[in-house]
Amino acid sequence: MLEPAVSSPPHPAPRHRGKHGQSPDDEAFTVRVSGLNHSFGQGELRKQVLFDNGLELGRGEIVIMTGPSGSGKTTLLTLIGALRSIQDGSIRVLGRELKGLSSRQLVEVRRDVGFIFQAHNLFESLTAFQNVSMAMELKTSDRGAIQERVEGLLGTLGLGHRVHYKPEALSGGQKQRVAIARALANEPRLILADEPTAALDRESGRDVVVLLRKFAKEQGATILIVTHDNRILDVADRIVNMVDGRVISDVSVAESANIAEFLRKSPLFASLSANTLADVADKMALEEYPAGAEIIRQGEAGDKLYVIRSGSALVEVSENGQTRQVAKLSVGDFFGEAALLSGEPRNATVRAAEDAEMYSLGKEDFKRVIDSSPPFRDELRRVLFSRQ
Ligand code: CMP
Repeated sequence: MLEPAVSSPPHPAPRHRGKHGQSPDDEAFTVRVSGLNHSFGQGELRKQVLFDNGLELGRGEIVIMTGPSGSGKTTLLTLIGALRSIQDGSIRVLGRELKGLSSRQLVEVRRDVGFIFQAHNLFESLTAFQNVSMAMELKTSDRGAIQERVEGLLGTLGLGHRVHYKPEALSGGQKQRVAIARALANEPRLILADEPTAALDRESGRDVVVLLRKFAKEQGATILIVTHDNRILDVADRIVNMVDGRVISDVSVAESANIAEFLRKSPLFASLSANTLADVADKMALEEYPAGAEIIRQGEAGDKLYVIRSGSALVEVSENGQTRQVAKLSVGDFFGEAALLSGEPRNATVRAAEDAEMYSLGKEDFKRVIDSSPPFRDELRRVLFSRQ
């Protein structure tokens, strides 16, 4: 069953199907972001970097946030981690609203969060054991408990034989594992990781994230990982994509696999390699439109390509005050390619003929796929030509 329209046509906001998407309950979410804006600088130099963002991280969920550099990912991460004050909008972390908290209160929130950064940020003069135990000393003075926990953690992370080594004697992967142990030491219910694999080779990068996942699942912690690293996407339950300060797609990995499966059946996408297809599927958002809603309006600038997942759509062209229907598109058909390929305004209006669901792909991602796959581009051009 489709729900009522989410906002007024012609551009309903994308609706996403996260597994926790419907529950309003704080209990179900470790993090709830809504209406979040953020700017840097003052006066004329003021630059907005986050625009009306919403994001929910369910308990025990592992979410990877991807997007080009400068898209606002790290800013969002630091706001969620109470490392900056919120200017506009709301972030609830573990049931607590961060907006309006004093610096001292923000520090308290940070104690419940485990942070992992690109550079491991270990103290060079301290051993692995000391680096991890320092984090625990903020919470307890029970030396026995600290020792047991720290040795246990380092052991499980494969560092049992390196407990008393200093960072200089450890490899990149080992240092990052110490940083993970430190982040996990106090059993935080939220772990925020910013490019945790950036300094690592392929194998140690994966190992680090797989270990992180194992711990999170065991402890019921929620993890948000900001990364450029495509090789670790499959570790996530959900992938969030940010572009130009906005969360533009938010798909569960299971949903993403469904999308890839669905796209593979379309002649347009069949030419893509399995990797590219998975990448495209990750970037797609699911949008729902009630019967009659405009999806594209003739004359407007093109921003997305659409593929019909369910229902059907009517294509109408207005000329000299007359509107005529030129095509009816159904499941598996795509539209919205013409304006993206030509840079011209939309050449027709497309509306839902009945309640319908669309997968949409943003312009930038669409361009990337075209550049990387000549058969995809050729097939698009062929269809475009046949539609004229
Ligand atoms: P675009 O111009 O980006 O937005 C309107 C879309 O309607 C257009 O891309 C095509 O995808 C689609 N469209 C326009 N004319 C036709 C047609 N004759 N048959 C099928 N689809 C069309």
